[in-house]
Amino acid sequence: MEVIVKPDYDQISKLAARMIADVIRNKPRCVLGLATGGTPVGTYKELIRMHEEEGLDFSQASSFNLDEYVGLEHAHDQSYWYFMNDNLFKHVNINLANVHVPDGKALDIESHCRWYDEEIRKWGGLDIQILGIGGNGHIAFNEPGTAIWSRTHWTSLDERTIADNTRFFKSVNDVPRYALTMGIGTILEARKIIMLANKDSKADAIAAAVEGAVTAMVPASTLQFHPDTTVIIDKAAASKLKRTYRTEPAKAPVAKRKR
Ligand code: PGA
Repeated sequence: MEVIVKPDYDQISKLAARMIADVIRNKPRCVLGLATGGTPVGTYKELIRMHEEEGLDFSQASSFNLDEYVGLEHAHDQSYWYFMNDNLFKHVNINLANVHVPDGKALDIESHCRWYDEEIRKWGGLDIQILGIGGNGHIAFNEPGTAIWSRTHWTSLDERTIADNTRFFKSVNDVPRYALTMGIGTILEARKIIMLANKDSKADAIAAAVEGAVTAMVPASTLQFHPDTTVIIDKAAASKLKRTYRTEPAKAPVAKRKR
């Protein structure tokens, strides 16, 4: 894992957007793995700015979202499809025929989950996956204890996740209890991963994920197995880390020729 500590949320968002934009520019037909939640909103805002001001072109890109609540239709303002449309899709020139969000209203959930994994493969695999982290160390809706090699599946939400997500609903009783989520194994197959976190409410989870042992009890710690993960966090989220980390991604060495 490469860990980058930035002074604030704005700087995290700008670096993450720059890394995603690099993937899009180097491979216009790229497959983006996208995330919902409060954390990536600033990254999406910056990508929209790059689209509007710098001509960042999403026209050939495709996308797969990490997860969706079971039972919410696209039009529900707390569905993740709605979130993605509101925060990114409708502001850029991505082709909506090429975006994928697990279907929370699928009639046959098990076969939908299998289809989702197969579809990611058919589109060529995820070129870059963006992740947040739950206060309990989850990635997507892979709650503590999820099998490390799990594929896309349905899951019940952890009590902490229900409590954390109540802020988006009228009351705790309105928070869905089930979700569809890419598995940890699905996520680990992405070619590149960036995980973002800000605020001190994420500091314990980040310390466990980055400096703790790899364990299914901290799903984000499994990113230590991944060969190309960048963790981009603010000072508050980094406050429980013991080691000191860089403030910019390392640059690859350039070979010098002897004269
Ligand atoms: P948040 O959620 O970005 O809203 O903090 C992150 C997560 O639970 O994965």
